[in-house]
Amino acid sequence: MRLRKPVARIDLTALQHNLHQVRQLAPESKVLAVLKANAYGHGMLQVAEQLQQVDAFGVARLDEALALRAGGVVKPIVLLEGFFDADELPQIVASNLQVVVHQQEQVDAIVAAKLDAPIRVWLKMDTGMHRLGLAPEQFQMAYQSLSASANCLPGIRLMSHFASADDQQSPDTQAQLQCFYQHSQGLTGEISLANSAGVLAWLESHQQWVRPGIMLYGVSPLLQPQEMTIELKPVMTLCSRVIAIRAIAAGETVGYGSTWQASVATRLAVVAIGYGDGYPRNVANGTPVLVHGKRYPIVGRVSMDMLTIDIGRDQVASGDEVVLWGKGLPVEEIAVKAGTIPYELLCNITPRVDFNYDP
Ligand SMILES: Cc1ncc(COP(=O)(O)O)c(C=O)c1O
Repeated sequence: MRLRKPVARIDLTALQHNLHQVRQLAPESKVLAVLKANAYGHGMLQVAEQLQQVDAFGVARLDEALALRAGGVVKPIVLLEGFFDADELPQIVASNLQVVVHQQEQVDAIVAAKLDAPIRVWLKMDTGMHRLGLAPEQFQMAYQSLSASANCLPGIRLMSHFASADDQQSPDTQAQLQCFYQHSQGLTGEISLANSAGVLAWLESHQQWVRPGIMLYGVSPLLQPQEMTIELKPVMTLCSRVIAIRAIAAGETVGYGSTWQASVATRLAVVAIGYGDGYPRNVANGTPVLVHGKRYPIVGRVSMDMLTIDIGRDQVASGDEVVLWGKGLPVEEIAVKAGTIPYELLCNITPRVDFNYDP
C-alpha cells in the first residue's frame, strides 16, 4: 500500500557531496558542522552519523548536545550559545562538551567554578552582529582571565559571527573582519569566523575552523547564488501524493476565502500536504510544485492537510507523487514565494511527516 502522506526524503550522498564542497573551498580549515534545530530539520542523529569526517559538531542548546551523546556521538560538540547557569557546568564537563563564552557572566562562572576537569572554551567577540559576543574592548581581558584559570583548557579558541556575509556587496563583513583582527591582536588560539556564506564568499575568513550549516544541507545562503563557484545538492526533497482529481468550471473558485477563480474550465489535483505538515500557508498563488518533473501552480489557499494545483488537461492521477521542494525545485525558490528564508522552511517540517534516509 502506498501511503498518501508527506515524506521528506533525505539524500545522504548529497550531504557528503556538500561536505566535500566545503573541504574544496576551505582545504586548510577544520570543519565544525552545525546540527542545531534537528540538523535544520533533517534529523540530527542521522546527519551526525553520516558526517563522520568532520572535526566537530555545533548545536545551540544543551539538550541537543545531550541527545547527540545519548545517541552515541563521541566527536567534539560545541554549545554555540554556551551555558546560562553555573549549575550546567558539571553536566558539560561530564558529557565532554565545549562552550562558546560570549558574556562576562560566563567568564566569571567558569573562573569561580569547582570542576572535575577543565573545559574547552571558544571565546566570542561581537564584531557587529550585536546578538551574542563580548564587546571588542572586553575581549582581551576575558581572554586573560580564562587563560589564567585552571578550569579552562589551554588553547582558547577565538571566534565571531557575521551578520551580512550572504551579501557580497555589503561592506559589513570586511568591517567585522577588521574589528576582529584589531581586538584579538597578540592573542594565540585557533580562529573561527566563517558560516556557510563565509565559506562560499569570504575566503579570507576561513582561518583554522569553518562553521557551515545551511550549505551542508544543499542550500545556498547567498543573495546572488548564481555567483557560486561550486554546486550544492539539496539534501531534503519534500514530497506527497495526489489524493483527488476534480473538474472545475470557468468562474468557480477554490479553497478557503475563494482566493483563486478559474478563468477557463480546468482540472485540479488535490495534494496531501498542508501547513499542518510544515508547508507554508502564505505562499503566493502560482507557487510551483513538480509532478512527473513538470511544474504546476498551486491555486487557492494552502489548508492544514491539503493544497490544490491546476493540472489543466495533463495526465495526472490520484496517487501520483508531487515534489514540493528539493531535487528539481529549489527550496530557495519556494522560500521567496513564502516571503521567508530556506532555513525556516526546512526547520518547520512537523513530526507527522515521515522521513526516509537514502541510501
Ligand atoms: C554561531 C553560528 N555559527 C555558524 C552557523 C551556521 O550558519 P549557516 O547555516 O548560515 O552556515 C550558525 C547558524 O546560525 C551560528 O549560529
